[in-house]
Amino acid sequence: MARKTIVAGNWKMNMTPSQAVELINTLKPLVATDAVDVVFCVPAIDIIPALEAAKGSNIQIGAENMYYEESGAYTGEISPAMLTDVGVKYVIIGHSERREYFAETDETVNKKVLKAFEHGITPIVCCGETLTQREQGVTIDFIRQQIKIAFLNVTEDQAKKAVIAYEPIWAIGTGKVATTEQAQEVCAAIRECIAELYGDDAAEVIRIQYGGSVSASSAAELFSQKDIDGGLVGGAALKPDFGKIVNYKDFKVVEY
Ligand code: PGA
Repeated sequence: MARKTIVAGNWKMNMTPSQAVELINTLKPLVATDAVDVVFCVPAIDIIPALEAAKGSNIQIGAENMYYEESGAYTGEISPAMLTDVGVKYVIIGHSERREYFAETDETVNKKVLKAFEHGITPIVCCGETLTQREQGVTIDFIRQQIKIAFLNVTEDQAKKAVIAYEPIWAIGTGKVATTEQAQEVCAAIRECIAELYGDDAAEVIRIQYGGSVSASSAAELFSQKDIDGGLVGGAALKPDFGKIVNYKDFKVVEY
């Protein structure tokens, strides 16, 4: 078996519904491949037009967030059933911007991860250290803590389906991409942490992405690392360059 590379775009708070349709129509031919799973995580209001526009293509539409309750008095939130009802299969959980600006914690991330699995949605679980943490040498400890709490009460079968995105905060939107060695080192540590929690089988199938200023020029080297199974891409996902990132050279197929 092999882990299939997964390249996901994170549109963040960009693109109106009409711009979303236009962008998908532009990117559709550029990302057409079966070698890689291609996911566009889009703002909630763009989900339905994006699904329409992506129909018949290999593009899967994901959400950027969801709430951990089923329904009720949670003004402004979007429920897992709302996502599955229209055919959403992926959701980004615990992006560092949500942690920083919207007070998400490891505990709320865990609740959302559990709820996503309950509804059959694949969570793209984000983790990543600050520059201070990296400079203080506590990166691995910190990431292990984020992962262990995010996966609390997640079963082995569920964990095998999860996607983890390692995104050093200092590399997001800064143009400062982590070196290949830095990215590989942390992704390997994440895989090791999953092995400790669930055993080697789960560690071998779980997909781990790198995110943070991924570009057409850095994607090939990053995605060819042993423990990096694709990327979560912000800025470059809004441009034709995304096609080059999806079609990075020498698609990686890790045999095990
Ligand atoms: P970036 O964003 O590629 O613009 O750095 C990545 C992300 O935040 O997911």
